[in-house]
Amino acid sequence: MSNGEHIFFRSAGSVNPVIDRADGIYCYDEDGKRYIDGMGGVGVVSIGHNVPEIREAALKQMEKVSFAHPFHWKNQPHMELTERIANFSPAGMSKVFMCSGGSEATETALKLARQYHVERGNISKYKVVSRWSSFHGNTLGSLSMTGMRSRRDIFAPLLQDFPKIAACNCYHCPFGREYPSCNMPCAEDLEAIILREGPENIAAFIAEPIVGAAGGGLTAPDGYFKVIREICDRYDILMIVDEVITGFGRTGRNFGIEHWGVIPDIICTGKGLSSGYSPLGAVIVAEKVFEPFRTGRGFSHGYTFGGNPLSCAVGSAVLKYIEDHKLVQRVAQMGTYFFEKAQELYELDIVGDIRGKGFFMGLEFVQDKTTRKPFAASDNIAGKVADTCFRNGLIVGAGKGGIDGVNGDHINLAPPFTCTENDLDEVIDIVKTSIRQVQAAL
Ligand SMILES: Cc1ncc(COP(=O)(O)O)c(C=O)c1O
Repeated sequence: MSNGEHIFFRSAGSVNPVIDRADGIYCYDEDGKRYIDGMGGVGVVSIGHNVPEIREAALKQMEKVSFAHPFHWKNQPHMELTERIANFSPAGMSKVFMCSGGSEATETALKLARQYHVERGNISKYKVVSRWSSFHGNTLGSLSMTGMRSRRDIFAPLLQDFPKIAACNCYHCPFGREYPSCNMPCAEDLEAIILREGPENIAAFIAEPIVGAAGGGLTAPDGYFKVIREICDRYDILMIVDEVITGFGRTGRNFGIEHWGVIPDIICTGKGLSSGYSPLGAVIVAEKVFEPFRTGRGFSHGYTFGGNPLSCAVGSAVLKYIEDHKLVQRVAQMGTYFFEKAQELYELDIVGDIRGKGFFMGLEFVQDKTTRKPFAASDNIAGKVADTCFRNGLIVGAGKGGIDGVNGDHINLAPPFTCTENDLDEVIDIVKTSIRQVQAAL
């Protein structure tokens, strides 16, 4: 048994227990204590842990070939998975670039957008506009697009100075207005920044359909993404959606953006694509965007593990499982129950806002529900709620800074798609008990 002293941990002084095994919606530590995986890891585990079909698909592929590089080989799992993803995607989004995770996917989308314009002779277009209160990954390109101060600040000198527009946050509107009479200045902000920076310099706009780590389920009102789509089209700017969390059924649609009836140009995915059974990401591209790459020098980009046979076989088995068990439809249906049940949490003094869709829910905590005043960041309320949930046998995600980069406390819930009504009741009950315990200690 190793004591783990050689691990370069992400968080200093981590006191996390050691996981022993996981099955269905549960994880177990070495002492046998059971935890509900209420966050699906980190918005990853969709079909549940330890599903035999996935194990069998991985083993079957390993018995044939685990690694083959596209420099030398095509491989059947790569071909099959890209076909499945294309069939899962909105109409006309039929070309799929494989990678190993979310940051690689958004980084790929950034380079793809740049080269798309270069190939069409628009060589000054390179900037990607994004939003504050967003997270697009931790590599330097993806972090340049990320609007989350806590993850950016240390590395700011290394980042591209990409423009950011206001977050779409109806609970703390950055413009002090109210939907629908607001006329959505948060969407119009895109046009303003394009004109300020010069449309000839802007390659793309990127947004999460529903914000994850940076905003706790911030959800755009009806019409927002339609306005964004129109502005992108007006200035020959590609619309990228970051569906690393919201993709592959998490919100009750194949992709989150489908809730708004808008078709983007590029979709970035990761997490739920493999349900965590293997590192995997994919960038799904509209035919129009692929067109300039059809002939000529191709795309000047790629990763060693892009199209990896083993990972792709796992991804295919996961998508097949989602389809065979109609899990997207299930999330749509059970998501309604989940959100209805969660309304009980409004009884609690500090629960200000409950938002999201399907099996992706954010809860925001406030000191005062009337004024929506946040807690001081130093109170670490979200961290305390998450730690208390964990002690009570439920894994949730905690986040801070959703309002202005510093203030704003939320937790995220993203349980496996296989949860029953009883499981969802238990999730909400543990959240309620845990928040009460935190409130009592305030
Ligand atoms: C919306 C979004 N984009 C990108 C990423 C980065 O993904 P990864 O951690 O797999 O690189 C994440 C991760 O949390 C995410 O939530």
